[in-house]
Amino acid sequence: VIDIRRLYAEGQVFTYDPGFTSTAACDSTITFIDGDKGELLHRGYPIDQLASESHYLEVCYLLLYGDLPSAEALEDFENRVTNHTMLHEQMMNFFRGFRRDGHPMAIMTGVVGAMSAFYHDSTDISDEWQREVASIRLIAKMPTIAAYAYKYSIGQPFVYPRNDLDYASNFLRMCFAVPAEDYEVNPILSRAMDRIFTLHADHEQNASTSTVRLAGSSGANPFACIAAGIACLWGPAHGGANQACLEMLEEIGSVDRIPEFIERAKDKSDPFRLMGFGHRVYKNHDPRATVMKESADEVLSLLGVENNPKLQVAKELERIALEDDYFVSKKLFPNVDFYSGIILEAMGFPTSMFTPIFALSRTVGWISQWKEMIGDPTQKIGRPRQLYKGEPMRDYVNVEDR
Ligand code: ACO
Repeated sequence: VIDIRRLYAEGQVFTYDPGFTSTAACDSTITFIDGDKGELLHRGYPIDQLASESHYLEVCYLLLYGDLPSAEALEDFENRVTNHTMLHEQMMNFFRGFRRDGHPMAIMTGVVGAMSAFYHDSTDISDEWQREVASIRLIAKMPTIAAYAYKYSIGQPFVYPRNDLDYASNFLRMCFAVPAEDYEVNPILSRAMDRIFTLHADHEQNASTSTVRLAGSSGANPFACIAAGIACLWGPAHGGANQACLEMLEEIGSVDRIPEFIERAKDKSDPFRLMGFGHRVYKNHDPRATVMKESADEVLSLLGVENNPKLQVAKELERIALEDDYFVSKKLFPNVDFYSGIILEAMGFPTSMFTPIFALSRTVGWISQWKEMIGDPTQKIGRPRQLYKGEPMRDYVNVEDR
């Protein structure tokens, strides 16, 4: 009888699983996904109920602490987050060091990593209180950092957070208010923003969350781990998909060119893919996309932007792809990023801000997963194996003899 567990433990056998499609690296009580049924639960609660009936900060509490808060606990949590929305004034110098045309994700990766230098009183991961403060600081400051990255890129002065506003309204105001002009946040837009935050809050072991866990497994501080997550999220196959999707809609340009792009997406010799379609886990439908589609309809009719060419292309593309055999047979449905990009475009965000908004929404998921990992005594430093396919051992040859 072969004791396979002993062989694994001794490193004598290992699974070869590129993309980790069938390897679990941890156990978790935070998020459950059934990709075949199109189900996403946070701590047991379905995402569509949370997105319709709850709001982002309550979902943050749920993800972080495991249960829905009492009214008192929620108020206390909201106050704690609100107290930390300001950035250390010296961090402005850090923003100003970047070129104005730098991508906001590059700025966010740098600024969040640098938080370890500004808030080093919450980097000792062995101290529960410091872990808690770091978590609250990250959730509270991410909207400020994202909004400042945007304001800096368009050459406008930073708008300081206003703590009498809810999380989403405060973010919209920091992005769109200009000094000496009144700015009223429209409640429908604020609700749509809050839903985007809620729908992106966590998604179990996706690439960026796994990156945060892997970085955290070495004992790195939470700000460094979240900066690693932001860097991973930037890629077009992950968080960059909503930006890539809008760029694709721009490239398609008009409804009559859609068939050409559909054909390209099916052509295996062409690397082009329909951005915003398909998902590694959801092979039925993405439950977040259903809620996001409702929000997209609300925002588009409020803003009266149905005539925006990109949005027209998006609607027609969705219709054609959902009837096309290739996409239907491969179960390639619009994912959450397809609709979130459309909403953000309609609200007036440039495409470069789409991924930063995803990053700020996902921060709570990253932090919750990081905290869970730190509290799990069975977790070891993450260290994947490899299947070596290089040269066998050979002797060094001096440069003049090669
Ligand atoms: N357009 C055209 N064909 C596609 C697409 C697409 N968007 N997505 C997958 N396919 C095809 C593949 O070519 C492959 O075809 P084959 O079986 O003939 O080889 C088949 O569908 C399976 O694709 P995989 O790449 O193996 O699926 P995987 O689960 O690894 O990929 C992914 C998932 C990365 C999301 C993929 O669907 C994709 O690239 N989509 C576009 C990018 C995107 O929208 N990303 C956002 C993901 S959601 C998020 O991060 C929140």
